[in-house]
Amino acid sequence: MFRSESRSSTWGSCSDISTEPQRLEIMNTVHNTLLNPYASQMVHQHLAMIHTRGRRSRVLDVGAGTGSWACDVADKNPFCDVIAVDNDWSKFAGRASLHGNVDFATLGGYRSVPGAHRQTSALRSHGQPAALVCLTIQDTRHGALTPDLIHVKTLLLEMPDYPTLLQRLAILLRRGGLLVVIESEPMFIPRCGGESSQALSIWNACVRDAYCARGVDVTLPRSLSACLSASGVFIHPAYTQEVGIPTAGYIRSASSALAKAGRLHYSVIEANLRYLLPTVLAHGYSRAEIMRLMADVLNELTHPSSTHHQRLYAVYVRKA
Ligand SMILES: C[S@@+](CC[C@H](N)C(=O)[O-])C[C@H]1O[C@@H](n2cnc3c(N)ncnc32)[C@H](O)[C@@H]1O
Repeated sequence: MFRSESRSSTWGSCSDISTEPQRLEIMNTVHNTLLNPYASQMVHQHLAMIHTRGRRSRVLDVGAGTGSWACDVADKNPFCDVIAVDNDWSKFAGRASLHGNVDFATLGGYRSVPGAHRQTSALRSHGQPAALVCLTIQDTRHGALTPDLIHVKTLLLEMPDYPTLLQRLAILLRRGGLLVVIESEPMFIPRCGGESSQALSIWNACVRDAYCARGVDVTLPRSLSACLSASGVFIHPAYTQEVGIPTAGYIRSASSALAKAGRLHYSVIEANLRYLLPTVLAHGYSRAEIMRLMADVLNELTHPSSTHHQRLYAVYVRKA
């Protein structure tokens, strides 16, 4: 079974989330809890409409990570062919597909994915930002890939010039196709519109500036809908969900139990902060100061009186 370690193989000793695949699976549970049943209804109704017309549908999952979303959709929709692309399959969960209708493909140079059901071999990045080459994707079994549905979830922080990616995907999508984009902002904010503490304000600013220096606008999720409108190819209005993911780090239960309740456990908050750390440190801040700041922020967010949340946005738009 393919299950190689991710770039961050171990987060810390006291956490029950020790790898990036674990963090992604837990966050996936949180997202599903908060966005379903609406999110899955949008996907399944769209695909069902195509199947009732007597043809198979095609779905593209960009930056598929663990591959869980791709497998779920493929398992629930036997008349759908899913292609999941990523430039690094180190987070792949190795789940088998029930109906053999999901392909896993590597962007940025083809690499085999043991445990994946099938692989597509005609994907090449030619040195461009990998996901941007979606435009040139050829599905070897069906000719040019024109997906009926494209799904992008939590790719923003790893994708400089994300708006360009969305524009390319808009072109790639079949007419009448559905684009689903789900992103959360990395900043934690007080739930009732109160003032952030000094530590949290500084941490949020460090994260924002460090990512900005890499060409990533961490505030983009709140303007996703407007960003997609600007492409001029989608039918309006877009359907949008905007929810807060509440912290509940003081509650003593397993992180998976809290994730199923749509809330962030201590170890999830810690893992999410640590995920940001390499980018923040690479920006040139003092490691000692950043580690101190992170500890203060973690204490604040996991305090019983903490009422903070992270904003999560899901946008569903249909191509004209
Ligand atoms: C934070 S993970 C999210 C994974 C999954 N979408 C989810 O929600 O669980 C981001 C994923 O995007 C992938 N990724 C980053 N840059 C990429 C690129 N240029 N092309 C394709 N995938 C990319 C990473 O390897 C990683 O698996």
